[in-house]
Amino acid sequence: MKWEKIVFDMDGTLLDTGSGVFGCLEMALNEHGIEYTKEQIADFVGPPMHTQLCRTFGMDPEYAAQVTQTYRSFYRIHGVNMFDNYEGIPQLLKRLKLSGRRLFVATNKPHEFAVTMLKNAGVYELFERVEGADMVSRTDKKAEIILKALDNDISGAVMVGDRINDVEGAGKAGIPCIYVGYGFGSREEAIECGADFYAQGAKELSDILGASGAFISFEGGDGAGKTTQMDLLEKYLREEKGFDVVRTREPGGTKISEKIRALLLDKDNSEMTPVTEALLYAAARAQHVSQVIKPALESGKVVLCDRFYDSSFAYQAIARGLGADMIESVNAPAINGVMPMRTYILKARRTIERIKEEKDRIERENTDFHDNVAKGFDIVAENAKNRVVSIDATCSIGEVFDIIKKDMDTLF
Ligand code: TMP
Repeated sequence: MKWEKIVFDMDGTLLDTGSGVFGCLEMALNEHGIEYTKEQIADFVGPPMHTQLCRTFGMDPEYAAQVTQTYRSFYRIHGVNMFDNYEGIPQLLKRLKLSGRRLFVATNKPHEFAVTMLKNAGVYELFERVEGADMVSRTDKKAEIILKALDNDISGAVMVGDRINDVEGAGKAGIPCIYVGYGFGSREEAIECGADFYAQGAKELSDILGASGAFISFEGGDGAGKTTQMDLLEKYLREEKGFDVVRTREPGGTKISEKIRALLLDKDNSEMTPVTEALLYAAARAQHVSQVIKPALESGKVVLCDRFYDSSFAYQAIARGLGADMIESVNAPAINGVMPMRTYILKARRTIERIKEEKDRIERENTDFHDNVAKGFDIVAENAKNRVVSIDATCSIGEVFDIIKKDMDTLF
């Protein structure tokens, strides 16, 4: 993983707060009878208000503090609701969170305002910690705020910001900075202040952070309609979202794993023990992860996988009764830290009826076994609420896909 911890500036990086800052600033300046031009206040987002008032209007510190107070009284009422999301940023945040990154906010805005606004924007829950200035703060304490957000542990951390003070603050704190060009700064400023990386939009930011690929799995009992839904999703992601999609399955997906699949599903192998079965599924997975899934994700592709680790949990840990610990320990080296960002569990009451001769070794198991598989998937859904979306697959194909499509739109 490129950077495990990502510290975001807020104004101009997470939220387009321009209308609120400029609107409330104009109200405050008018209230104090101060004349200004649009050019004079164009540079006000990012650095502390107090600093900018002294710098731009030559105010003495005490007077600037009074104007700042007036500004904040307006901001508390109006400003906290005056913002827009930047295109693709809420989705990127959610993808980062789902793929296990740790997200933080370090802003010069008073902490109270930052929390309210992130809540209003519906992204507050994604952050491990939000640090801001206090209401009386007058100077730029970006480095201090960054270090506070990280609890002084800068290992594996990167800053994302849109102004020179973010780059300088990150530098002082000892972490690199990605400068985003869609906020209140400019490419020229990014070059001038020596930002380590530059991203013009959410897509480039996603590439730099290594968040462009996505691993999505489908799970459920046999015959729940996974293939149909995966066909629809593959088409949607390719045609509507422009993704390079890799479609694969477990057990299988590589030459070796397909051979293991044949062994596993061969109905003549009725003497196979549960432990052999569990180890073979894990072996097929090890090959699949290292040969197909990991390389595809590293090159920014979207991987759609028909079954993954959760099937081993439902079938081997629960239905075969081998237990979670055993399945977890044999799969840990196979998975090697790669888990889906999103898993759709399709819950069907009835499995496809086929004549017994056509069924593979697992499908031939009795009703109790398949009921336990369903219970296993319920446990998965309960244990991984953030990752798993459980869907009643007895609804129509269109209704099921609608749920999947709406969920995908929150991620891409
Ligand atoms: P399918 O690909 O046609 O769904 O068949 C794979 C069968 O293997 C299915 O019955 C579920 C079972 N299975 C497990 O028991 N454990 C696993 O880890 C995986 C991936 C599949």
